[in-house]
Amino acid sequence: MSDEKKAGEAPKAAPADPTKATPPGAQPPAKAAEIPPAGGGPPVQQPAGAPGSAPKSQGGAVPEPPAAKPPAAAPPAPAPAKPGVVTATIDGKTVEVAPGTTVIQAALQMGKEIPHFCWHPDLPVDGNCRMCLVEIEKMGKLQIACNTQLTEGMVVHTESEKAAQAHRTTLEFLLVNHPIDCPVCDQAGECYLQDQYMEHGLHDSKIEPEEKVRKRKVVDLGPIMLDAERCVLCSRCIRFERFVTGTDSFEFKNRGDHTQIATFEDRPITHNYAGNLADVCPVGALLSHDFRFKMRVWFLESADSVCPGCSTGCNVFVDHRDGEVHRLRPRRNVEVNKSWMCDVGRKEYKEIAIDRRVGAARKRDGGAVPLSQALDEVATRLAAARAATAFVASPQSTNEDLYAFRALADSLGGMIDFRVGSPERNLRTLEDGILLRADRNPNTQGCLDLGLGRSGLDAILAGCSSGKVQALILQGPELLRLPEAAAALSSVPFIAVMATHEVPELERAQVVLPAAMWAEVEGTFTNYQRRVQRIRRAVPAPGDAAPRWEMAAGLLERLHAPLGAASAREVFALLAQSLKDHAGLNYKALGATGRALPGNGASAAAPGA
Ligand code: SF4
Ligand code: SF4
Ligand code: FES
Repeated sequence: MSDEKKAGEAPKAAPADPTKATPPGAQPPAKAAEIPPAGGGPPVQQPAGAPGSAPKSQGGAVPEPPAAKPPAAAPPAPAPAKPGVVTATIDGKTVEVAPGTTVIQAALQMGKEIPHFCWHPDLPVDGNCRMCLVEIEKMGKLQIACNTQLTEGMVVHTESEKAAQAHRTTLEFLLVNHPIDCPVCDQAGECYLQDQYMEHGLHDSKIEPEEKVRKRKVVDLGPIMLDAERCVLCSRCIRFERFVTGTDSFEFKNRGDHTQIATFEDRPITHNYAGNLADVCPVGALLSHDFRFKMRVWFLESADSVCPGCSTGCNVFVDHRDGEVHRLRPRRNVEVNKSWMCDVGRKEYKEIAIDRRVGAARKRDGGAVPLSQALDEVATRLAAARAATAFVASPQSTNEDLYAFRALADSLGGMIDFRVGSPERNLRTLEDGILLRADRNPNTQGCLDLGLGRSGLDAILAGCSSGKVQALILQGPELLRLPEAAAALSSVPFIAVMATHEVPELERAQVVLPAAMWAEVEGTFTNYQRRVQRIRRAVPAPGDAAPRWEMAAGLLERLHAPLGAASAREVFALLAQSLKDHAGLNYKALGATGRALPGNGASAAAPGA
């Protein structure tokens, strides 16, 4: 099969258009606002330390990429017409950028993606693939767009015949020894090589398949499968290992067309960020063991969300099909997680579709009941107990859930707290110097902002023991799992718990209410930086499971104290009206990457800042 035939069977790459949704698995083009200004991200400044040395993790920030080669020298440019702004022309359009912006970044700002392999917005520039060559007037030779800074009055052509010819020949060169794997390669549909061949190549191969240099295939590296034959030697994986995790697992070995990517003695990847290697690899050379051969990516839809795995709140895509989540991928947010996420978080999707989910309400003495009937029972108990009630919120809940839960407690004058196991103590503690935090809850900060650390857990447990608490409502099963709470809980006549998964401790509750999980609801989490970020519903909840705020609103309705909101969006509007720091916020204002709240010194210490 010729290369042309092979590529002809592959899906056509979408034209670069930042207004269109990024296809699942594709590296989303950097948006204008996300492109770091000069000195703020790649292309990077000259190194503070020795070139090539791995940076040490500092204070938990995602390590900043170190410097790369100096940018290409351009002819002397006239002084900028506007101070602090460089004005230039790319493909006939005027573009205004911050000084230090490279041609590839400037093009992205105007919605144009210059073909590339080795450039990555969150890795140091290496300039090795030559795929991004562009023509610049008054410069004798074509220049690489990823490492050429735009200067005042520069005139760039990315689609001229000279540039297009360079793209074609670079692709032809890369494909000379590339295997004809597309029909069986799991990267198909999100492969840069395939997409760019369709967009810029479409050449006939000059060599026969049997003449290609063979390299190693299906090398098991633990969480990652390596197929060295598909590698385009872009060095993204090497730079990720060197500059993000500091583990230096990968290196090129051999020379010439026998060069190939490898780990030392084929040792497996053992760190907690292996999944990012599959993400940064532009081709199918590094694939995720977990996702490989499970689903063709063109069948997947994506929802923007936030990882619930810890208080960092990494932005993610939830890739799903027919109501089932198949994988999580990092979604770029330069203020939180750049382009990365950890493997602990990546596995969070597995909790959604397992058969231990609570899909129906039930009473301890009556088995499964409709949710409305269970809420009737809970409301009756609450109405009877009034102020002799206690509420324990969960930092796994959204802000909307917390707000409605607090309104329920306030309507009765009951006690409320959330600090089971004191998650607030670990809120900002980095576990690994990169992203993962010791507080494995996504919304401890939201609990603090909503003032839910109010009554004290000891006071609630004392009330339970003394008989002061006649009805206890739990937003999650955390308190039921606390061994030291067991005796106090056994004295409470009525316990109701909102639960997502079956756990043995639920037997202690008189009523179990089925709660929807994070990927099944609209809402917001507030991360350790006090950044409020939206999560979006990707899949339906099982059975009768409902958002926690809806169940609290149902109880308020039955207690004749309606919440006054019929959607998560409306609950958030009420919340924003009630909290000074949230004033003026709404779902639209939060945008794709969230908003940092004022007034907390910790919020200034964003990772990577
Ligand atoms: S394995 Fe992938 S990321 Fe690494 S050098 Fe090869 S193509 Fe680039
Ligand atoms: S660091 Fe935390 S929020 Fe980020 S992916 Fe890992 S578990 Fe999820
Ligand atoms: S993307 Fe510019 S040289 Fe590789």
